[in-house]
Amino acid sequence: MVDSYGRKITYLRLSVTELCNLRCRYCMPEDGICKKRHEEMLTQEEMVAAVKAAASLGVTKLRITGGEPLVKPNIVSLCRDMAEIDGIREICLTTNGTLLPELAGPLRKAGVKRLNISLDTLNAEKYHMITRNGTLSEVLRGIEAALKEGFEKIKINTVLIGGFNDDEIAELADLTRREAIDVRFIELMPMYDSGDFGQEAFIPYTVVTEKLSGLEPVPADGGVAKLFRFSDAKGNIGLISPVSAHFCAECNRIRITADGKIKPCLHSEDEISIKGMNGQQMRETIRTAILEKPEWHGELSYRQRSRAKRNMNQIGG
Ligand code: GTP
Ligand code: 5AD
Ligand code: SF4
Repeated sequence: MVDSYGRKITYLRLSVTELCNLRCRYCMPEDGICKKRHEEMLTQEEMVAAVKAAASLGVTKLRITGGEPLVKPNIVSLCRDMAEIDGIREICLTTNGTLLPELAGPLRKAGVKRLNISLDTLNAEKYHMITRNGTLSEVLRGIEAALKEGFEKIKINTVLIGGFNDDEIAELADLTRREAIDVRFIELMPMYDSGDFGQEAFIPYTVVTEKLSGLEPVPADGGVAKLFRFSDAKGNIGLISPVSAHFCAECNRIRITADGKIKPCLHSEDEISIKGMNGQQMRETIRTAILEKPEWHGELSYRQRSRAKRNMNQIGG
């Protein structure tokens, strides 16, 4: 389906839980979240119905997000259900990677084709600091496990944080020489109340190209990243610039949160609930939400925070 600004909406990001086993400082508060009542969250059946409804409106790509999707007890069966939906050609999942040692194989068999794995640093102490409790070796083992399972694509997501990991850009980019993985640097987005990062933390993506020599441009893969590659590399370097150069004009996505709110735009406060609806009602509501998708998310900067009244773990990125 095409929205009011001529954008073809083909990509749904479905957050399956707000919970996470980490506490990344830019994503969620230290004390976690005020856990919602079970009845407020979409059931597995409702998630399947919502994806079917979206598919009937032209969505072909599904990305499962969180919180951390792999802490959801029924995640493998959920992915299997999604893989059977007519029209959904691609199931992708964004994860912090820590539970992949056990789950990479079952997820691949359930039909997940592509994985994006978050990793902001290669230093164990810094990893523990930014995630507030994480263990670097767990995610590294997770990446290894994923590489063995033959996913069609594995991407590392690195949130660029000035004064924290801008000294590791070359080292992280080097991973694309060693393995067939993409490494994408993402500008830090100022969300509702997550993180007390100072202005110096918000650095533009151009810092990456300034620090890396020998990058050659690569045609975009339909995603939001500008792509580059070292000539001797197995994977691409991606730059995602939601703050310094937004990509709203090419946006092809809508979101559904774990508590059943359609978010036509990541940074808008608009939310439309589908909780408790049947498939036909969901279809009509998703149709309306697509037609109401705003042209862009408005100014976003250190001073001008996201208008979304949620932190990232309650949206799914
Ligand atoms: P691909 O399907 O591999 O292209 O992945 P993706 O970039 O769509 O998904 P992922 O979950 O890996 O997100 C990477 C980063 O991009 C995260 O920080 C997201 O918050 C951000 N992102 C994804 N979609 C949007 C969007 O529509 N707008 C903005 N501003 N940021 C987005
Ligand atoms: N800014 C940029 N990226 C973020 N993510 C989570 N919070 C933020 C933020 N404030 C990223 C995670 C994950 C993806 C879903 O979103 O690192 O890779
Ligand atoms: Fe968890 Fe991902 Fe948020 Fe980190 S960024 S706290 S891993 S949901």
